[in-house]
Amino acid sequence: MILVTGGAGYIGSHNVIALLDAGYDVVIFDNLELGHIETVETLKNINSNGRVVDFVKGDLQNLVDIKSVFEKHKIDAVVHFAAYSQVAESVKNPQKYYFNNVYGTLNLLCAMLENNVKRIVFSSTAATYGEPVYVPIDEKHPQMPINTYGKTKLMIENIMDDYDKAYGLRSVRLRYFNVAGADSQNRVGEWHEPETHLIPNILKSTFSGGKTFQMFGTDYPTKDGTCVRDYINVEDLAKAHVLALKYLENGGRTNFFNLGTNEGNSVKEVFSSCEKVTEKEISVEIKPRREGDPATLIADNKKAKEDLGWSPERSLEESILTAYNWEDKLTKSIKIGCIK
Ligand code: UFG
Repeated sequence: MILVTGGAGYIGSHNVIALLDAGYDVVIFDNLELGHIETVETLKNINSNGRVVDFVKGDLQNLVDIKSVFEKHKIDAVVHFAAYSQVAESVKNPQKYYFNNVYGTLNLLCAMLENNVKRIVFSSTAATYGEPVYVPIDEKHPQMPINTYGKTKLMIENIMDDYDKAYGLRSVRLRYFNVAGADSQNRVGEWHEPETHLIPNILKSTFSGGKTFQMFGTDYPTKDGTCVRDYINVEDLAKAHVLALKYLENGGRTNFFNLGTNEGNSVKEVFSSCEKVTEKEISVEIKPRREGDPATLIADNKKAKEDLGWSPERSLEESILTAYNWEDKLTKSIKIGCIK
């Protein structure tokens, strides 16, 4: 059985589906602060050829909570998503991030060691690289995070190196670029409150009652003046976690990989693609730059291709379409009071 921390959240829930599809039983551990009970219910009801989805509500900052999961379930490996991930908030309230992300992970690793579980796939981020020195960014790029969120993820990566050397606990750290899209069967999707990410914010503005989309900064040194990012589809991303798990099962050493597409799209390009996919003219308000946004972030994904046999398959338009279908479902469900 695979323990998925944060399995009720956006990326975690898509990973639960990918694990079930790959034939694993899953236990989700989530405190439901950012994750949703409705997502857990959906995952439990997925017809997954007899695969089991269990759920334990608990907090990683409480060692007793996480230890109890290992007492109740025979865990073979862990996929760890549970974390706070808002850059601006992390700078304003670092204590919240260090306690939850770093201390929470220490508790998880403690419970793993106590139960002799020695394999973990960890949700890391391009934010560990900081302001890019060169692009595309490969894994040899210096890791010099410029915000607390990125620092917490880098600290955890370093802790995992030490735990491998000292205790033989092997990890794969997956450094995500910009994750986008939703489940192609529209069962789960991105559901943040408040939403800060580009694609859901553009799409939300197309529904009645939605706020006008705000474009942050048009004076960057890029092709059209707006920030360039590497948008990786969430289902493609989930597949990489299954491959990382298999890599560790097959004796692979502790390692780290970028997950991106090797291609950059500007905010204006993403905006135009959203108009094309939704066949709607979307109104936009130009705003000043958002603090801390680097001009360009693009992944070099060669290492994940070579060592994990992974490659992204879905286009930006597919991500936008699935995200749109999900927003539609979410908006309607909230309106009729199906989900809180
Ligand atoms: N943007 C807008 N309007 C919005 C939202 C975003 O113009 O309403 C712009 C941003 O200014 C930025 C681009 O769209 O230029 C992408 O912004 P996102 O918030 O979607 O994504 P980020 O690149 O800021 O953040 C992502 C992850 C973080 C991670 C970071 C690594 O969401 O978790 O990459 O740099 F830390």
